[in-house]
Amino acid sequence: MMNLIDTMDLSLTEIDGLVETALDIIKNPEKYAESCKGKKLATLFFEPSTRTRLSFEAAMYELGGNVLGFSEASSSSTAKGESVSDTVKVVSCYADIIAMRHPKEGAPLVAAKKADVPIINAGDGGHYHPTQTLADLLTIYRRIGTFENLTIGFCGDLKYGRTVHSLVNAMSRYKGIKFVFISPEELRVPRHLREDLDISGISYEEVTSLENAMPELDILYMTRIQRERFSDEDQYQRLKDSYILTVDKLHNAKEDMAILHPLPRVNEISVAVDDDKRACYFEQALNGKYMRMALILKLLGEKDKTEEKIETVSDFVCRNKRCITSCEQEIKHEFRLADKAKNIYRCIYCDKEPKK
Ligand code: NCD
Repeated sequence: MMNLIDTMDLSLTEIDGLVETALDIIKNPEKYAESCKGKKLATLFFEPSTRTRLSFEAAMYELGGNVLGFSEASSSSTAKGESVSDTVKVVSCYADIIAMRHPKEGAPLVAAKKADVPIINAGDGGHYHPTQTLADLLTIYRRIGTFENLTIGFCGDLKYGRTVHSLVNAMSRYKGIKFVFISPEELRVPRHLREDLDISGISYEEVTSLENAMPELDILYMTRIQRERFSDEDQYQRLKDSYILTVDKLHNAKEDMAILHPLPRVNEISVAVDDDKRACYFEQALNGKYMRMALILKLLGEKDKTEEKIETVSDFVCRNKRCITSCEQEIKHEFRLADKAKNIYRCIYCDKEPKK
């Protein structure tokens, strides 16, 4: 059985297949209107969402299937102290596929190990958000026509922005990609991602000025400062207005640069930019529905595929408070060898190094 925990679970050929299916859905929606007849999608949202949950639901309805689920932890048995493992074991009895959002990093991987049906990560803490990446990829493809030879600027909260992490992973596998990470020092892209880019020899720079980076960008991916992930409200107040994209700041951008944003927006893109032809964020939300349709079709069609087993060790303890291992009872802490040369291990749930 296949799950989608991060974009790296999909090969480039599989991503091409999803894009192809999504384009066909856009052209011939009636062909797919009964593809999931009699099937049920459960949306288990332990954290707020508008686009992701509703686009999953719309996607399943447009495939002729049905939807059940909850949209906040307080209305589920989590409020009574139920573990993620038990919740998904139970929901597997009622649904054919599960999309899950959870505040703890790695919670969907715990679910995938326990459930008898495919699990889709719809966002796990500040970690990953692979279906947003699918929306981003379709938007890039429809706007620019290729995933290769692009300079991509990520701007804002690159530390906690899970959509950034998943899109960096996805794009780092294409030829001729360069990343420009634009953030305040406190919100730099996580170390594990930088180390992965170093290992793969992918070029990237880290800068603080959006204006200076602008002229070379083919894509500008703006993000919200993720208030809910800050442990220090003063720090949030200090950083919240770090970057605001205005019409003026676009004067030296490429004519055909694509401006993406996973939404919701707070104030990091001024509303006047919406009328600029380079703005793609609302079509990005629509593309998310098509890619989720393609993904549901793929996962339901591949129920019996067994997953590749990765080798893990359990000689350490994960001390990351944001990791699912910090609260879920009795899950084995497991680590994979991330960098052989440097002997670096990382938690399979949250990607952080164990403290020795
Ligand atoms: C993003 C998320 O939930 O990570 N939203 C989304 O799914 N489109 C981005 C965000 O919340 O800032």
